[in-house]
Amino acid sequence: MNGKKIGALAIAAAILLTGCGSNGDGSADDKSSDQVASPKAGGAGGEVGVFTWWADGSEKKGLDALEKSFKKQYPNDTFVNLAVAGGSGSNAKAKLASDLQNGNPPGSFQGHAGAELTDYIDNEQIEPVDDLIKELGGDSVLPKTLLDRLTVDGHIYSVPVDIHRSNVVWANTAALKKAGIKDTPSDVKSWLADLQKVKDSGVATPLSIGGTWTQTELFESILMANLGADGYSALFTKDGNWSSPEVKASIEDFKKALSFANTASDGDDWPAATDMVSDGSAAYNIMGDWAVAEFDSRNKTFGKDYTAFALPGKEDVYGFLADSFTLPTGTKNPEATKDWLRFVGSKDAQSTFNQIKGSIPARTDVSPDGFNAYQQKAMKDFKEKKIVSSIAHGAAVPLAWSSEINTAMSKFHQDKNTDNFVSALVAAHDKYAM
Ligand code: GAL
Repeated sequence: MNGKKIGALAIAAAILLTGCGSNGDGSADDKSSDQVASPKAGGAGGEVGVFTWWADGSEKKGLDALEKSFKKQYPNDTFVNLAVAGGSGSNAKAKLASDLQNGNPPGSFQGHAGAELTDYIDNEQIEPVDDLIKELGGDSVLPKTLLDRLTVDGHIYSVPVDIHRSNVVWANTAALKKAGIKDTPSDVKSWLADLQKVKDSGVATPLSIGGTWTQTELFESILMANLGADGYSALFTKDGNWSSPEVKASIEDFKKALSFANTASDGDDWPAATDMVSDGSAAYNIMGDWAVAEFDSRNKTFGKDYTAFALPGKEDVYGFLADSFTLPTGTKNPEATKDWLRFVGSKDAQSTFNQIKGSIPARTDVSPDGFNAYQQKAMKDFKEKKIVSSIAHGAAVPLAWSSEINTAMSKFHQDKNTDNFVSALVAAHDKYAM
């Protein structure tokens, strides 16, 4: 890292949004950002290759909806779908890294708001989009918690399209009923007790999991629950203590949770795990709220067939992540890319897309009408709960750090050795925390 810092950069965001770029030391700002030309009606013309991992199932439906209305609004531009399958970008990110390395950037790529973007910024692979953000309404339409995570050294490098919650427990209502579980658990320990009840009721797989990143998401949800917002967020600071008694106890809880789960291989994707809850072969799954779209696609109704709650603990925190789109350095048709960014940042696109995707709009001025009951609750929760950043989805740590956590996770899934896991987590922290 070259010293750029992401984090609580509210002041920098304020400077940016009032339009007077400065480096904070009074010196002139050399990145006066993208000078956005007035948009040409119908689009600037040219291809926009859009790189995502929304290649299948419910995620593809969301992207298809975006493509359809982009084509309508920008008929001069040509949308090219460059999606690479694999939840959470598990395959896409490697392909993207090599394309960027080889000087072959797409028109725009999906990136998580937060620490993940610093990798691309430090490598000068993406350009600031400050003027576009201003054009879209800046802080009058984008929440501060999101802008803080998008802002690096006073600049914003991507346009957010959605907000997802990561620490959500999905449950099959019939399986809970059969196990005699009436109440939402009050903490991780009581959830583990419920998993035992489900097992005793005859369900072979009380908890469904997928490949490594889904296990990281399960683990981060336990950390969020047990440590609370401040304790969890402190893990990513220079003094973060990954060998504290609380972290060790969380690893033991995680180990216990895994004892109720199916065995999963590294590459197993998330829909299969979520579908197990949908069809009742598992009672619980911890998954980001893109799961809503998967339940929808199987005609399941929130509150009737399935229910959802944030993994409870010290306090009710909102595990945050957001998908955003970038302007890659050296992309072939930057003006057409800006049309795409302008489009994904718009009210209409965010209303259509997020209803399908399970997420909530990044913009605060999109009406909740048309969103399902789960999503309307998520919109409310996002405003009210304490927001913390997801590890598994690029908000809390840069790519290199999360990839070391995933390597440690994959080993832990095999050997269940707490000491080795703690050592690897501490080593990753010491290498990357600033
Ligand atoms: C996340 C992404 C979501 C969803 C999920 C599963 O990283 O932010 O939009 O696609 O992966 O693939």
